[in-house]
Amino acid sequence: MPMLKEQLSLFDEAIELTVAEPLEAHDLEEIGTVIALDRGIAMVRGLSAVKNQELVQFPGGVMGMVYNLDPHYVGIILLGGFEHIKAGDCVKRTFMVADIPVSDSFLGRVINPLGNPLDEKGPVDAQRRLPIEREAPPIMHRAPIHDPLQTGIKAIDSVVPIGKGQRELILGDRQTGKTTIAIDTIINQRDKNVICIYCSIGQQISSVTKIIEILKRYNALKHTIIMVAGAEDPPGLAYIAPYAATSLGEFFMESGRDVLIVYDDLTKHARSYRELSLLLERPPGREAYPGDIFYIHSRLLERSTHLKEKYGGGSLTALPIIETQAENLSAYIPTNLISITDGQIYLSPKIFQMGNFPAVNIGTSVSRVGGKTQLPAYRQITGMLKLSYSQFEELEIFSGFSAKLDEDTLKTLEKGKRIRKALNQPKYSPIDVTEQIGIFLAVLNGVLDSVDLDKIEESEQIIGKIVWENEAFRTLLMNRGTLDNDTKNGFLQMVEDRLKKELGF
Ligand SMILES: Nc1ncnc2c1ncn2[C@@H]1O[C@H](COP(=O)(O)OP(=O)(O)OP(=O)(O)O)[C@@H](O)[C@H]1O
Ligand SMILES: [Mg+2]
Repeated sequence: MPMLKEQLSLFDEAIELTVAEPLEAHDLEEIGTVIALDRGIAMVRGLSAVKNQELVQFPGGVMGMVYNLDPHYVGIILLGGFEHIKAGDCVKRTFMVADIPVSDSFLGRVINPLGNPLDEKGPVDAQRRLPIEREAPPIMHRAPIHDPLQTGIKAIDSVVPIGKGQRELILGDRQTGKTTIAIDTIINQRDKNVICIYCSIGQQISSVTKIIEILKRYNALKHTIIMVAGAEDPPGLAYIAPYAATSLGEFFMESGRDVLIVYDDLTKHARSYRELSLLLERPPGREAYPGDIFYIHSRLLERSTHLKEKYGGGSLTALPIIETQAENLSAYIPTNLISITDGQIYLSPKIFQMGNFPAVNIGTSVSRVGGKTQLPAYRQITGMLKLSYSQFEELEIFSGFSAKLDEDTLKTLEKGKRIRKALNQPKYSPIDVTEQIGIFLAVLNGVLDSVDLDKIEESEQIIGKIVWENEAFRTLLMNRGTLDNDTKNGFLQMVEDRLKKELGF
C-alpha cells in the first residue's frame, strides 16, 4: 500500500477533477468514503457535517473516532481491527461520541477500552453509558484529601504515604518492579472497600495474563476491573484506554465509592498518541511528540480527586506508571508527568540490582499531599526516617574507605542495615499499617540492633503477631491517636521479651 501521503496526494489530484461533479448534500453529510489508510488511521472523504470526537462506523462494525477535520477529508482514529478496511469503503456517522458502558457488573471482569468483555464470562449488563472524555470535576466540587490509601508496602506507606484522591507517579527504568508495586497496592485493597481499575496499555498479552492470574491467586480480582489495550491492538485503542478507564472509575466515584486506578503505562500511551499524531500529519515537537502531549496527560489526571459529600463523596486515586530510560528523570514525558502529579515513587535499578525489593529510592521519592493523611502515630515514628536513612547511606559509602571506625559510627551502621532490611518486602505480600508501625517502632528504637540481619524478617513476623494480639494498641493507632511514652515503652518491652524467647538472642 502506498504511504498515506502519496494516497492523499492522489486524492487531492482526483478532487480537482471531480469538483464540478455535484454530490447529494445528504450523502456528503452522513456517509463518507475511505480514501486513504495507514496503521490505525483512515482518511475519509465526505462526512462534511461530522463533529470532532464523533464515532463513525466502518464495514464489519469497526468503529473509528473523528480526530482531524480538514477541508477535504476527515482524519479518523480506528478503534478496531483494520485489516479488512480498504479504500473505497463506506463510513457512516453514528451521531455519538466515544463512550463506555458503566456498571457494577464490570467488577472482576477483563474488558477492552470500548467496554467489550475479553474474558469468557459472557456479556456485561449495563444500563448507563458515559463518554470517555469528560470534564474534570470543578474546583468547588473537590474536598481536601484526608484519608490514607494504604499500599501495604512499608517503604511507601512510611515515607511516601498516599491519600485517597491523590495522583502519585510510579517511575523507573524497565524491569525495576513498577507493576509489582501497583499490583501489591491492588491486593492490599482486598478488604478495604476500594474498587481498583488496572488499565494496561500496550503490554504483551502474556504479561497481562500473568497479572490476572496473580490477582486471582491473591483473591483480588473480585474488587478489580482490568482494562486491556494490548500491544497488538490498534494504537487508537491504546490512546482511548486511560480515558475510558477513568470514566468507569468516575461512575463509582460519583456514587460515593473510593476508586484506585493504575495506568500501566503512560509512556506507551504517549507513544501511541505520537504515532497517531504523526500519521495524521500534526506537526511534531520535542522528541517528535505533538504539541498537546502535556495536555493529554494533564486532562486525564485532573479527573482524579476527592469529591465533596454533596457531589457523591467518593474519591479517585491515580497511580500512573512511567518508564524512564537509563535513569533519565529529566526526559520529556517523565518531567511532564512529575509536574502534573502530586509526587513520585522512584524505583532505582541500582537498588534493584543490590537485591533490595521494592527498589524504592527513598531520597528521590516524595508525596506532596499524602503526608497529612498518614496515621499520626506512623508520622510520629517515621518522621525522621528519610533523613536518618540518607545519612546512613552516606556513612556507609564513607565507611568503605576507612578501616577503623569508632563505636558510635559502627552502631549507626548496624542500625541503618536493619532499617534497610525492614524496608525490604517480598512481592505480593502487603502488610497491615498497624503491623508496619510496630516494625518501625521496634527497629528505629534499636530493639532489633542485636538481632542478626538474617533474622530480621522473622522478627518482623513476630512483631506483626504481637500487634494483632494487642487490640488496644491497634485501636489507638487506627483511631488516629499518638503514642505516649508508656504505651511505646510497654510495646517495645513486649517485643524485646518475645524476641528473646523466640529467637533466643
Ligand atoms: N518486592 C519484590 N520482591 C521480589 N521480586 C520483585 C519485587 N518486585 C519486583 N520483583 C521482580 O522484578 C521483576 C520486574 O518486576 P515488574 O514486572 O513489576 O517490573 P516493571 O518495572 O513493571 O517492568 P516493565 O518495565 O517490564 O514493565 C519481576 O520479575 C518481579 O518478580
Ligand atoms: Mg510493568
